[in-house]
Amino acid sequence: MASDSLTIVDNRTGKQYELPIHYGTFPLYGASIRGADLKKIKISDDDFGLMSYDPAFLNSASCQSGITFIDGERGILRYRGYPIEQLAEQSNYMEVAYLLMNGELPTKTQYDDWVHGITHHSIVHENMKEVFHGFHYDAHPMPMLISTLAALSAFYPASRNVMDPDVRKLQIYRLLGKVTTLAAMAYRHTKGLPYVMPDNDLSYVGNFMNMLWRMAECRYTPNPTLEKALDVLFILHADHEQNCSTNTMRIVASAESDPYCAAAAAAAALYGPLHGGANEAVLKMLRQIGSMDKVPQFIKDVKDRKAMLMGFGHRVYKNYDPRAKVIKRLAEEVFEVTGKNPLIELAVELERIALQDDYFVSRKLFPNVDFYSGIIYEAMGMPSEYFTVVFAVPRMCGWLAQWQEMILDAEQKIARPRQVYTGVAIRDYEPIEKRRAR
Ligand code: CMC
Repeated sequence: MASDSLTIVDNRTGKQYELPIHYGTFPLYGASIRGADLKKIKISDDDFGLMSYDPAFLNSASCQSGITFIDGERGILRYRGYPIEQLAEQSNYMEVAYLLMNGELPTKTQYDDWVHGITHHSIVHENMKEVFHGFHYDAHPMPMLISTLAALSAFYPASRNVMDPDVRKLQIYRLLGKVTTLAAMAYRHTKGLPYVMPDNDLSYVGNFMNMLWRMAECRYTPNPTLEKALDVLFILHADHEQNCSTNTMRIVASAESDPYCAAAAAAAALYGPLHGGANEAVLKMLRQIGSMDKVPQFIKDVKDRKAMLMGFGHRVYKNYDPRAKVIKRLAEEVFEVTGKNPLIELAVELERIALQDDYFVSRKLFPNVDFYSGIIYEAMGMPSEYFTVVFAVPRMCGWLAQWQEMILDAEQKIARPRQVYTGVAIRDYEPIEKRRAR
């Protein structure tokens, strides 16, 4: 009779073990065995027991989570059960941030309190300007954002009390409120422009645009099409389950570090070109290709492993990234206001060729979220170095939701993977005069 368990026979000893199989949400499943159950499989009492070896976590679940669901084979993404397409079309970023954090869409009162809490924590301490002044004018904005997120920890030492729910709530407001301010300060610093204070009468995204682009006018009025487009982009980037930066947030915070330092570490992971830094790398790649006639040669270089098609491929999606679909459509709306970014034609041609080519088809490589987003950011007037910052700002709510979930999960402890040791077993120390170069 079928049972929800796995029978393992250890051929070294002939012993048989029965390991229970656990499931996630019906009918989505996510069947797993407990890694710790493998420890029972040993050849002697003093044996440590069997481990699973899984570099880069190709097939290991590190947590149970009720926040984001991805079906990579079918190209499905849902936040708290809501399809990303519905949220992008009907919701707004502040509402989605509440949903990710609290599990349900807010009532009107809950929404107003949430927005008020975030809006009223958006100003940073004046000394933060001095921190920015320490950077060169041409510093990359991501290291500036990473450093200043960590610097917030020095301004709020009480944030270390992460087990106190009221303390956590306050830091969530502060981080969501201040991340736009710090991100905008990083932008203004590179341009040599004075910092702009938040305007509480604007939307979250409208205020971010105000802090980026306000010049001499008394009041900044965001273009409604661009404001809406940026809001949709924020929704699409808000969370993506256990990706590299979110996993970093959880790992750092598992040591009970404060959320500012953990978020800085998460942002540092996001900065990498294989993760959130890919949007910047896509633009660099498109510029290097330069014209339509160079596309076939570039594709050949990729297949010869002389280049990477940045913005393509994903660890989880083996189908079209649903976020990329929305972004591709969004680009047309943005171009109505900004004029067409000529790089879009190159990107579309790259996609067309790649989706017909066996190299990409056989490896199930499709455009990901970063393939088209940079083209929109550039059309809005952002420099390519800034794109990953515009990814980090909305991802803050995902990092915080995952942080809170981890803190409240009684099963979680300090993260500490095992290793398979492959070094020298043991040897005796030799004084320096007796050593030979090896
Ligand atoms: N261009 C060319 N070949 C690729 C690409 C690419 N963009 N991505 C994967 N491959 C090949 C890879 O060489 C390998 O081929 P083979 O099996 O012959 O050795 C095969 O496809 C499988 O790739 P992998 O490297 O084992 O896949 P992974 O899950 O370890 O890496 C990835 C996923 C996203 C890091 C990778 O696809 C990549 O580097 N893409 C380009 C960078 C990028 O766009 N990153 C953004 C990811 S989405 C946003 C985010 O989450 O931050």
